[in-house]
Amino acid sequence: MVVSHSLVPLFFFTMLLVQVISRGIDLTWQDARATFYGDASGADTMQGACGYGDLFKQGYGLATTALSTALFNEGLTCGACFQIMCVNDPQWCIKGAKPIIVTATNLCPPNYTKTVDIWCNPPQQHFDLSYKMFTSIAYYKAGVISVKYRRVPCVKTGGVRFELKGNPYFLMVLVYNVANAGDVTNVSIQGSKTGWITMSHNWGQNWDVNMNLVGQSLSFLVTTSSGKILGFRHVAPSNWQFGQTYEGKQNF
Ligand SMILES: *[C@@H]1O[C@H](CO)[C@@H](O)[C@H](O)[C@H]1NC(C)=O
Ligand SMILES: *[C@@H]1O[C@H](CO)[C@@H](O)[C@H](O)[C@H]1NC(C)=O
Repeated sequence: MVVSHSLVPLFFFTMLLVQVISRGIDLTWQDARATFYGDASGADTMQGACGYGDLFKQGYGLATTALSTALFNEGLTCGACFQIMCVNDPQWCIKGAKPIIVTATNLCPPNYTKTVDIWCNPPQQHFDLSYKMFTSIAYYKAGVISVKYRRVPCVKTGGVRFELKGNPYFLMVLVYNVANAGDVTNVSIQGSKTGWITMSHNWGQNWDVNMNLVGQSLSFLVTTSSGKILGFRHVAPSNWQFGQTYEGKQNF
């Protein structure tokens, strides 16, 4: 009994990996570099180019990274999860450190006037990690390290969440806490008196529609990069308010 119990989590994790492979997340390790930004508090990692806000409230905590332009995909990679390990540096890699798993929550902006340390310029694959995550795999004095990384399924608690912002003529929806593939590639919205409307990608994981849907309950169809589509019917009731967040009953 004891043995079979301990195998259960392994079994589910393996199933998850098999699912992800079959839907196209590439699990092979690739080469990149990593730095860190901010301090141990993580204050500088809040907000950012993905449109997320207080990363603690939103469930991401300090297990986050900013991505270079080449990985960011104009914000569509926001929410994806990466497993990262420090390599090829016996001096600065922490010996025996477990690979970290981080969610993409920000952009490491390119700087075309710089001539040194231009890690985040295209076409380079670069992770600008939170201080906490960087110092889990390397000594902070290293500054920049070589890493191997791969996409892994995101593990999230609870359902997909929708934060509603804007005004009666412009509705912008932040989609977050997305499990598995993690990165949303398409969103459609339906008011209780409308058909399905394809939302436009605004910035980060913000999606918008120019339409007055005040007073109508809202449903969403969300597609992630793995091609999986989930429907969230009437996730926001007809008395929904701007500035509020509504949580779906399911996750990817
Ligand atoms: C870009 O790099 C230059 C040269 O190092 C620096 O002076 C400038 O402040 C940087 N710009 C930004 C936006 O960080
Ligand atoms: C959404 O889906 C359509 C095809 O249905 C595709 O052309 C488009 O590039 C997708 N992504 C975004 C960000 O709209």
